[in-house]
Amino acid sequence: MDEFLSPAEQHFVVSRRQFMPIHPRVFRANTIPGIDLYALKATGSSPELYHAAGEELSESFHDQLHSNGVSGIYIDAGDMEKYVQYLEGILNSIVIDEDIGLDERAAILYDTAQLFMGLLVKNPQLADASRRVKNIVEKTLHFLHTAPMSFAHLLKAASRQYQIHTHSVNVFIYSMTLAQRAGLGNHAEVCQVGMGTLLHDIGKSKLTPGIVGANRPLTDSEWQEMHQHPAWGCELIQKWNDIGKIALDVVRHHHEKLNGTGYPDELKDNDISFYARIAVIADIYDALTTEHAYQNAVNSLPALRLMKSEFNEQLDDDLYESFASLIVTSSN
Ligand SMILES: [Fe+2]
Repeated sequence: MDEFLSPAEQHFVVSRRQFMPIHPRVFRANTIPGIDLYALKATGSSPELYHAAGEELSESFHDQLHSNGVSGIYIDAGDMEKYVQYLEGILNSIVIDEDIGLDERAAILYDTAQLFMGLLVKNPQLADASRRVKNIVEKTLHFLHTAPMSFAHLLKAASRQYQIHTHSVNVFIYSMTLAQRAGLGNHAEVCQVGMGTLLHDIGKSKLTPGIVGANRPLTDSEWQEMHQHPAWGCELIQKWNDIGKIALDVVRHHHEKLNGTGYPDELKDNDISFYARIAVIADIYDALTTEHAYQNAVNSLPALRLMKSEFNEQLDDDLYESFASLIVTSSN
C-alpha cells in the first residue's frame, strides 16, 4: 500500500480559476473519473493538468503519484458537484476497502458528507436529495460498525470550525453513535435518526444572510427568525420521499428542552421523543466544542461539565450519561 497522500490545505486561484485539494485515494482504478485532475508537483508551483476527465484511471495511478513527485491532487472548484456525486457513488467501495486505513476512510467519508451537505445548504432543492442523504447515512452506519475505533476516527476527521454543513455532519455522527449506544437496535429507526440529524439545521438555509456566522449578538428580530429554522426545515423536507416521521420529528424538535424552555413547540418531558432528545444533546455538545465567530470552542471535558451544570434540567439524564461516557472513552 502506498503512503496516505492527504489533501494539501492550500487552495489555489490561477487566472481566476479556483483549485480545491482532494483525496487522491477516492479515484478508483479502472474507472473514468469524469473530472479533470490537476497535480501539484513542486512547492511554489501551481496545479497543472495531470489526468483528463474522460480517460480511464490505471491500476498504478496511486503508486505513480509518488514516483511522479506529486504532492497534491486538485480539481477545478467548478467541478465540485461532479466530484461530490463521484464520491457518493464510490463511498461503499471506500468504506469496505481494508487496504485503506480507518483514518483515511473516515476522512473521505466525513468529507463526502460535509461536501454534500454544503451543496444541500446552498440549494435545498438539489436533485434526488433524499436518496443521497439516505446513502450517506447507510454508508456511515456501515463504517461505524466496521471497527470499535471508527467513531473516534470520524471525530478526528471532523471540522472544529462552525459552519452549518459541518455542524450538521458532526451532530449526525454523534447522534447515530449515541442512538445505538443507548439501545436503539432497529436499523430503519437508526437511519431515520441519521437522516433527521444530518438535516436538522437545513431550515437555516432560509435565514437572512449574515445571521449565521454573525460575530455579534443577534437582535430580537433576528432571534425570532432563527427560532423558525426547525419548522422551516420540516417544511422543506416533508415532501421528499423516504423521509419518515422520526426524521421529521428530529428536525422539528431538536431545540426542545425537557423543562419546556425550548422551541418551536415548547414541548416538555415525555412529549419530547427519545430521538429528539438524542439530537438535543449532540447539537449542544457540538455547538460548545466548535469555534464560532462570537464564541471560542470549549474542550470536550469542560463542555460535558458545562452541559451538566448549565443545561441539566433541559437534557435527558440517561442519554447525557451515555453520551459523556462515549466521549470520554473515545477521546482517550
Ligand atoms: Fe438548530
